Amino acid sequence: MRLVVFFFLATIVATCNADCHIFQEGQIYLLRPRAGAAGHRLEGLDCLSWRLAVETNNLQSWRTVPMSCENYVGHYMLGKQYRHDCELVADAAIKYAKSLKLAGDSKDIWIFDIDETTLSNIPYYARSDVLFGALPYNSSRFNEWVAEAKAPAVPGALRLYGTLLSLGFKVVFLTGSREHVREARIANLKAVGYHTWEKLILKGDADKGLTALAYKSKRRTELVNAGYRILGNSGDQWSDILGDNNGNRTFKVPDPMYYIG
Ligand SMILES: *[C@@H]1O[C@H](CO)[C@@H](O)[C@H](O)[C@H]1NC(C)=O
Ligand SMILES: *[C@@H]1O[C@H](CO)[C@@H](O)[C@H](O)[C@H]1NC(C)=O
Ligand SMILES: [Mg+2]
Repeated sequence: MRLVVFFFLATIVATCNADCHIFQEGQIYLLRPRAGAAGHRLEGLDCLSWRLAVETNNLQSWRTVPMSCENYVGHYMLGKQYRHDCELVADAAIKYAKSLKLAGDSKDIWIFDIDETTLSNIPYYARSDVLFGALPYNSSRFNEWVAEAKAPAVPGALRLYGTLLSLGFKVVFLTGSREHVREARIANLKAVGYHTWEKLILKGDADKGLTALAYKSKRRTELVNAGYRILGNSGDQWSDILGDNNGNRTFKVPDPMYYIG
């Protein structure tokens, strides 16, 4: 179950002027911070502390971005800090990957989650029709966006992906998306440059009712039982990187927008 509130983007887009471009032709552009809007201490809650607590998994099962941090989180996601943070995660993952000696039997794999790990859904949340009603997460609307297959790559993710392939890793995408969106996900992955993979695992009927953590653990265990060695595992949620057979090393990219348990 995924719980999202994106009021903050409404505020930001509504105040956007001519020198502020968000998501044109699949690109993420810098949003010029509005004076006063990016301050991280508002109404008594330190939003930087809140984001750190989220990223460290000290805050769990939170349902929405706190109202007083919407502007802060919006500026974080659309500005350079998010991109820098993601690029640094990619740097660390690449350094680790290069340090490994692969067996050369095509069983050394790297697992990637999809949403907010390899593909970014920010354009969906930046759409005016979703925004201006300040609507909470709506699965049918989100599925329409997924069907469009227009999500851009998360910063740093394609660089890591390309490096892994050149080093001889096999890549496995493991996503909470359902089987019925397989074709759209394939189209989207290919459109932004993820051109090959060993497996693309989506949530099927047999996974119904499982938490994200249980589902991902189960599918990773199947991979290990099939002889794969999970050397690296990248996700934006703790439920991507905790649990059984979670890999020799895990890498978490930031996501202060929503929590999936
Ligand atoms: C979700 O969006 C659809 C399509 O816009 C709409 O018909 C539906 O009422 C929305 N559902 C909720 C719970 O808001
Ligand atoms: C990965 O972890 C397994 C299990 O702990 C260990 O046997 C293996 O040597 C590790 N591989 C690398 C490359 O560190
Ligand atoms: Mg994700």
